[in-house]
Amino acid sequence: MQIKIYKDYQALSATVADEIIELVKNKPDAVLCMASGSTPLLTCTLTVEKSVKNNIDFSRVTFIGLDEWVGVPPQNDGSCHWFFQNHLLQALKIPAAQIHLFDAMASNLNEECSKMDKIISEKGGIDLMIVGIGMNGHIGFNEPGISFDKRSHIINLDPMTLSIGKKYFNSPVALSKGITLGLQHLMESKKVILMANGNKKADVIRRTIEETVHTYFPASIMQMHLQSVIMIDEEAAFKLKDETK
Ligand code: GLP
Repeated sequence: MQIKIYKDYQALSATVADEIIELVKNKPDAVLCMASGSTPLLTCTLTVEKSVKNNIDFSRVTFIGLDEWVGVPPQNDGSCHWFFQNHLLQALKIPAAQIHLFDAMASNLNEECSKMDKIISEKGGIDLMIVGIGMNGHIGFNEPGISFDKRSHIINLDPMTLSIGKKYFNSPVALSKGITLGLQHLMESKKVILMANGNKKADVIRRTIEETVHTYFPASIMQMHLQSVIMIDEEAAFKLKDETK
């Protein structure tokens, strides 16, 4: 696991956007998986800008959405689906057939999970997975206590996730479950970037890097991946011991 610290959110986001662009330049049919949320928002904007400026062709890329709120329709602007479509996918012109987002309205959610696992496996795995971190150490919706060997699954959301999750929605929604890629997918990805910014993430970043790997703090799995990078701004790094930095 590598740790990279950037001056601020702008510098962090620009570097992650460059990683995406480089991936697609080197492997035009790459499989890219991303989280939605406040953290990767600027990365999405900058990826779109850089791809236009440098004429990067995303038409052969496969995109996998990390997770989704069960029961929230894709038209809801708080859904992960809406986020990806409006902040990234439409602008990058990735063909619809190569975009795989969980249908959180499906009557058979287990089938959605099997479908996603099959797609990822048929594509030969994820080349680059870009994730954020929740205030309870979750990745995607892999909540505290989740086993590290799961692939896609449905999960009852942690009270902290339910409470913080309200920030994404303009009007109240009934949230209770999530559908998410599993941590086995993370371990099987060729490269994983965990990004975080701001003071409020400093403690979870410290725990991710400095505490013992444990299912009760899912992000600690990053320590076990050989090609994992924690990319953070100075604020999110401020609780790290000097020797860790
Ligand atoms: C959310 C999502 C995650 C996301 C994390 C952090 O609940 N399920 O995929 O990475 O929490 O979100 P944010 O970047 O908004 O802090």
